[in-house]
Amino acid sequence: MILFKKTAELIEYLTIQRKKGLKTGFVPTMGALHNGHISLIDDSKKQNDLTICSIFVNPTQFNDPADFKKYPKTIENDVYLLEKEGCDIIFLPPVEEIYPPGTSTIHYELGVLETVLEGKFRPGHFQGVCQVVHRLLDIVKPDKLYLGQKDYQQCMVIRKLIALTNTPTQPIICATQREASGLAMSSRNMRLSDNERKTATAIYETLQAIQKDIQPGNLQKLKEKAALTLTAKGFTVDYVEIADATTLELIDNWNGSTPLVTLAAAFLNNVRLIDNIIL
Ligand code: PAF
Repeated sequence: MILFKKTAELIEYLTIQRKKGLKTGFVPTMGALHNGHISLIDDSKKQNDLTICSIFVNPTQFNDPADFKKYPKTIENDVYLLEKEGCDIIFLPPVEEIYPPGTSTIHYELGVLETVLEGKFRPGHFQGVCQVVHRLLDIVKPDKLYLGQKDYQQCMVIRKLIALTNTPTQPIICATQREASGLAMSSRNMRLSDNERKTATAIYETLQAIQKDIQPGNLQKLKEKAALTLTAKGFTVDYVEIADATTLELIDNWNGSTPLVTLAAAFLNNVRLIDNIIL
């Protein structure tokens, strides 16, 4: 495994590999790696000649500075896991390699994706995600980009970014990896106590209840019941929603045929957790 910290050196290396005809798969991360990330590495390894993983805790996507400060950092273990999994290249840039002095900010037209759900509760977050992913795609120029479905809205945003910027990269969305309890794997789970980890499974259970109970017609009561269940278990709920799975427009009345996704975001103490199920 080769570790790069300098953008110019990674670009030079990858240019040579591409000239040899090698296909590249890219897994962007913010570190604190878990089996969800590792499964993305595995998928990339199966489908490409070279797999590149970046670890960069992107300051511009944290709307809450406290969340940025508390974001778990486990770099030694991350490098160990990537080496063990057979990842070919790690990119570990310092901030100035991603945002050199004079970097200008582009505004990405994300439409409804930026005004609902995560977009509404984390203002500016998706502009920051687009800024860093645009930059990383420009550096790595991968054939395929691997993303986890746990961040459903982020996957849609990045697909839109790829279309807006005419980037010749194919996004591959991989299924959410879960603990045996059903809890969606997330770097933020590291900040949960053992008891909180048990309580946290309620998010997935609540979404599963929606999946089981949903009927065509008005969905308001179903959503309210789900949010109340989480509140009763000690969560502070940002949202429990049902949306059009292809546009992410919120659905209050379901015609029985529009494909749906149900999504939730809630705090357990000060740890914010998200999850979703395609219905
Ligand atoms: O999902 C993440 O870990 C981050 O949002 C990403 C895509 C690596 C961009 O910083």
